Amino acid sequence: MSFLNRTTTLRTRSISFVQRWFSSATPEENKTELLAPSDPAYSRAVTHRSDANSVQASSPVSRDVRRRVLLKDDLPFSAFLTDSFGRRHSYLRISLTEKCNFRCQYCMPEEGVKLTPRAELLSSEEILTLARLFVQEGVTKIRLTGGEPLIRPDVLDIIGKMREFEGLKTMAVTTNGLNLTRMLPGLQKSGVDLLNISLDSLVPAKFEFIVRRKGFHKVMEGIRKAVEMGFHPVKVNCVVMRGLNEDEIQNFVALTEEMPLEVRFIEYMPFDGNRWNFKKMVSYQEMLDHIRQQWPDLELVPGAEADTAKLYRVPGFQGQIGFITSMSDHFCGGCNRLRITADGNLKVCLFGNSEVSLRDQLRSGSSDEELLQVIAAAVGRKKKQHAGMFSISQMKNRPMILIGG
Ligand code: 5AD
Ligand code: SF4
Repeated sequence: MSFLNRTTTLRTRSISFVQRWFSSATPEENKTELLAPSDPAYSRAVTHRSDANSVQASSPVSRDVRRRVLLKDDLPFSAFLTDSFGRRHSYLRISLTEKCNFRCQYCMPEEGVKLTPRAELLSSEEILTLARLFVQEGVTKIRLTGGEPLIRPDVLDIIGKMREFEGLKTMAVTTNGLNLTRMLPGLQKSGVDLLNISLDSLVPAKFEFIVRRKGFHKVMEGIRKAVEMGFHPVKVNCVVMRGLNEDEIQNFVALTEEMPLEVRFIEYMPFDGNRWNFKKMVSYQEMLDHIRQQWPDLELVPGAEADTAKLYRVPGFQGQIGFITSMSDHFCGGCNRLRITADGNLKVCLFGNSEVSLRDQLRSGSSDEELLQVIAAAVGRKKKQHAGMFSISQMKNRPMILIGG
């Protein structure tokens, strides 16, 4: 049976059940305590820095001096992108747009989001200026996210220009796959190495319920075509939610039998307005136990320890599976990621609400040196680890669509 046929013939669940799932959290379970910017606790959270960090932030390290230090090999990585726990941030995720042609329930609040006025979003020149600066400082991997990055008209132009940055090794894109088929040749030509495609159900009706739009077959076609064109690995992101798609975990693993995909099971994470609650989260251990019932010989992929995902494979299968365990077993200790939102804020932690506007710095005419001081101060304030899923679920953050997946 072909890959597409197999997925379309999978059992269809009752949509009314699915609808109940998303409205099943009680108001108490969904209670979010908002920390308003006027709240003293908010400004403490935003302005707090350790003594060590304030030294790093305020000392005017000239780039020439720093370069000499680098040459001496005392500091193998930019001090500006190294935090107070020694983590080196060599991976930058840039959100190209807040808009999306899907409305995934786990990403967007039901009532939608208020979009930032166009003039307050980063222009492509501003994105490239910031990206170039980060790459000069040691970033080797950039991932473009959104919203849906492929709806930005100048996306290929941005990718092509970034590819010219000396030092950038990996160019990745996270997409919902809706327009992927027609974009693939351009993405390949402009130099994209890695594609992550979201796919939360193999049942068309359920998929379309989750993303609140039509498009299952287009996404599947995009995935198949990406593999055919030689993108490797093609990663498929599946956010696992209890009562909704956890009964499809084994079907997703089965996809890796004949296709060289990396299916990544992601623990459901709380963001503003996404109705997260603990009972809906399926933990890594639970997923693993479930998969082992069908494939007891599931094995860890050797040498993949540095990966954010915990990687496994079924012997003999072409692809592999990964688990993103941000909730049950966070990987903050090895975090090397920074994020820039579409409105130009630097976010040092996905689950932290501390942000600093690089757009405002750019527009006020700051020099590279001044920008780097601001970046270093924010990186220096990065916490050791996130606050834990229950605190995160009570914390004011952005909805995921406004952060960038
Ligand atoms: N929990 C886990 N992952 C999420 N994503 C978006 N929202 C959530 C959430 N609440 C991830 C999905 C998607 C990418 C854009 O962001 O993996 O593929
Ligand atoms: Fe769009 Fe991706 Fe968010 Fe879904 S998860 S609404 S596809 S940005």
